[in-house]
Amino acid sequence: IAVMTHQVSSPFLKPFFLKTPISPLRQRRHTLPASEFRNLTPQDAISVFEIEREAFVSVSGECPLTLDEVLNFLGMCPELSLGWFEEGQLVAFIIGSGWDKERLSQEAMTQHVPDTPTVHIHVLSVHRHCRQQGKGSILLWRYLQYLRCMPGLRRALLICEDFLVPFYRKAGFKERGPSAVSISNMHFQEMEHMLCGQAYARRNSGC
Ligand SMILES: CC(C)(COP(=O)(O)OP(=O)(O)OC[C@H]1O[C@@H](n2cnc3c(N)ncnc32)[C@H](O)[C@@H]1OP(=O)(O)O)[C@@H](O)C(=O)NCCC(=O)NCCS
Repeated sequence: IAVMTHQVSSPFLKPFFLKTPISPLRQRRHTLPASEFRNLTPQDAISVFEIEREAFVSVSGECPLTLDEVLNFLGMCPELSLGWFEEGQLVAFIIGSGWDKERLSQEAMTQHVPDTPTVHIHVLSVHRHCRQQGKGSILLWRYLQYLRCMPGLRRALLICEDFLVPFYRKAGFKERGPSAVSISNMHFQEMEHMLCGQAYARRNSGC
């Protein structure tokens, strides 16, 4: 039986979309890939939420996305998510959705606007056992590379707390000033990453 899962071995991602789900019976016949990057599905929501809960609840008491919102976004726009799996276990993920305004507003936290040039990155999170190993930066880099290959996308936006501004700056994001969004009295910086105009990256990305 041919291997059904597609392991991306190149550091550059080609655009990919959800594949037909493989039945659990079929999946068991294969060795789990050591390392795999793929879009998330609603079936991954529990693993996503567990990582998110551990990462955020102990720190701020709030997750960027509730379990319902995770399910919602993974149902509506799975192609704007990316998970990193090691031996079948989720170790890091990004969830994005479409947005249609210049800046992010409170409504952007729960909405997906399809067919727009802007991706709103809601959350990037790395399992606590895997932090400080470069995984967050690598996943973000691959995600941006992947977005560049999707037709019609022009930029990625996110909000973050001040302490993560240097992390996103290193990944190529530029500060756009304080965000209008606040969650439980927390304040954020808005950051932007342009996806176009990087002919060199595109030429070598296998798009
Ligand atoms: C932030 C996060 C995604 C980074 O992933 P990672 O794999 O640990 O990061 P990398 O190993 O690629 O890079 C490490 C860099 O991240 C930054 N960083 C990570 N956590 C940080 C923290 N708590 N405070 C300040 N900077 C931090 C630093 O710039 C660090 O570089 P340094 O060690 O040279 O200072 C990860 O720590 C995480 O999931 N944290 C909890 C959830 C979160 O805050 N998510 C982001 C908001 S949506």
